[in-house]
Amino acid sequence: MAGMRVLFSASNTKAQPWLDALRQALPGADVQEWQPGAVQADHAVVWSPPQQMLDEQPALKGLFNMGAGVDALLKLRLPPQARLVRLDDAGMSVQMAEFVCHALIRHFRELDVYDAEVREGKWSFRRPRLRADYPVGIMGLGVLGERVARAVAQFDFPVNGWSRSPRALDGVRGFAGEPEFDAFLAASRVLVCLLPLTPQTEGILNRRTLSRLLPGGYLINVARGAHLVDEDLLALLDDGHLAGATLDVFRTEPLPAEHPFWRHPRITVTPHTSARTLREETIAQIAGKIHALERGEPIAGVVDPVRGY
Ligand code: NAP
Ligand code: GLV
Repeated sequence: MAGMRVLFSASNTKAQPWLDALRQALPGADVQEWQPGAVQADHAVVWSPPQQMLDEQPALKGLFNMGAGVDALLKLRLPPQARLVRLDDAGMSVQMAEFVCHALIRHFRELDVYDAEVREGKWSFRRPRLRADYPVGIMGLGVLGERVARAVAQFDFPVNGWSRSPRALDGVRGFAGEPEFDAFLAASRVLVCLLPLTPQTEGILNRRTLSRLLPGGYLINVARGAHLVDEDLLALLDDGHLAGATLDVFRTEPLPAEHPFWRHPRITVTPHTSARTLREETIAQIAGKIHALERGEPIAGVVDPVRGY
């Protein structure tokens, strides 16, 4: 790795621990935090980098995103030869599985209702719900969606999965593409969004699509805020077609103080925390891929900019 240059640029992240860990994982490489006018680098590790950084680094061979979703990066002008590489699990899928199962089970077992009653000193029982009445539809069966589908199936919920191309997963009823989208929705009561944000998926959680869920539907959006049309969710909660939602991601983050989601009694808000980037796993994965690229070997997780993920 002697002579190789790696830049780091991540908004809202303390750079020093990342620089230290990258230097340890890439001995001999020159690893620096990006500053305007920095020397030409071979690779960059980034999260929401400034356009100026990308414009100043036309020779980059690898642009490593510190997250799974590359929607924000694809809005920028990218160095022409750089391969854009998304984070490939790196400890995220298990977090996503526990988050989604928690939200699903909290809703299914009515734990919020019990919580409120217990706080009032009430000892009472609700009629048990049947799992068969709560088929869970997972939009996106990629790295995260597949793990979530398997975890949900472990709790004996019927599971439907929807992807662009057909996927065969044990215990998951598969639907693919536009032609099977409505049938997928109509077969699901709980909907989990784990799609990448692309021109095809923006606004996909809207009045038309959410209305097709079984009555009393429940939405768990852990992908991107722009998948959801906020007003349509509020209208469907108000008219009773949807029972509630857990939302981890928002069109504007942090969620603005005046946004109605904060105070809606049937919406649970979390601050984009369902699957966090874990430094150790992330650096191990990126360093491994930098080594592989330098040896001319193929790597997983290279984004197709035309497909958008
Ligand atoms: P991935 O491996 O790229 O999987 C994407 C899945 O979506 C694939 O199954 C793909 O279908 C499917 N898909 C894409 N476009 C589609 C379309 N138009 N119609 C139907 N299916 C479509 O992505 P991932 O690693 O699972 O991550 C998914 C997203 O989760 C990320 O893009 C990111 O936005 C979000 N995320 C959120 C958090 C958080 O903390 N909230 C953390 C990490 C990631 P094919 O299988 O046919 O390609
Ligand atoms: C987080 O949202 C990610 O895309 O990794």
